[in-house]
Amino acid sequence: MTKIKSILKLMLPNKIKIKLSRLKQIITNKNENIGILVNPSSIENGLVTNFIGNFMDDEFFLESYNMGKQTGALKNHPGEIYWRAHVACWAATLAKTIEGDFVECGVNLGFLSRVIMHYTDFQNLDKKFYLLDTFSGFPLDAMEKEQREYLNPEVLSEYKECYEEVKTTFRNFPNVIIVKGKVPNTLPLVEAKKIAYLSLDMNNADAEVAAAEYFWDKMVSNAVILLDDYGHPSAVSHRRKFDEFCKKRNVKVLALPQGQGLILKP
Ligand SMILES: C[S@@+](CC[C@H](N)C(=O)[O-])C[C@H]1O[C@@H](n2cnc3c(N)ncnc32)[C@H](O)[C@@H]1O
Repeated sequence: MTKIKSILKLMLPNKIKIKLSRLKQIITNKNENIGILVNPSSIENGLVTNFIGNFMDDEFFLESYNMGKQTGALKNHPGEIYWRAHVACWAATLAKTIEGDFVECGVNLGFLSRVIMHYTDFQNLDKKFYLLDTFSGFPLDAMEKEQREYLNPEVLSEYKECYEEVKTTFRNFPNVIIVKGKVPNTLPLVEAKKIAYLSLDMNNADAEVAAAEYFWDKMVSNAVILLDDYGHPSAVSHRRKFDEFCKKRNVKVLALPQGQGLILKP
């Protein structure tokens, strides 16, 4: 038996060996990280944890989150995304303290941008917030296979013409500039000389990398890039392309447990 095991070990590819070893851990219950989490503190958006997200005790954060929800963007979303919104608020709070404007590419109805605008009291800041989107859904021609497959007709039908709605949502923010059209074509319409916050959420690696490349030199020290899809299973090319982007600039993506990625400009 031991002989057969040794021969199998030699013959099996590494991927299969790892899978078999995980299976063995589950069956023999030898890995405390695999199993059922009793009494989790949070279950949302692919994350089950018993660690404490004390932003949930922050009334102002919850108020900001609800402002985002009022855009209607989460109407068909499977569950809440508090933790992701918390990460965006953290990044925006940092960006608020440094020089430069805010940019979001991939806005849809404006959930995330509305949350952080409330959280940072954006209309009273001496900054501009550029919101870039087609505001009429995904330009599928420019999208990679895995991402097109993830965005099945049901998901796609949620992204419709919404330009007028978005204008209404942000009507009381004189420092918000809505830029309608396809990224990267619309990037030159962003007049900011310095950038403090760049949020990328277009489910399209090429468009996102193009935006990151376009803005990188304008980003001040400690400015943040927040990637929404970096760890998503369908975002294979995102990970590869942003890892390459970072390698050239000697930085790394901080991978977060709900799929976001965070890059800090040195
Ligand atoms: C997942 S949604 C963004 C969600 C948004 N961040 C929120 O907080 O709800 C992705 C958006 O990216 C936009 N988009 C995708 N590719 C684009 C491109 N090349 N140029 C402009 N917008 C694009 C789509 O129209 C869609 O509204």
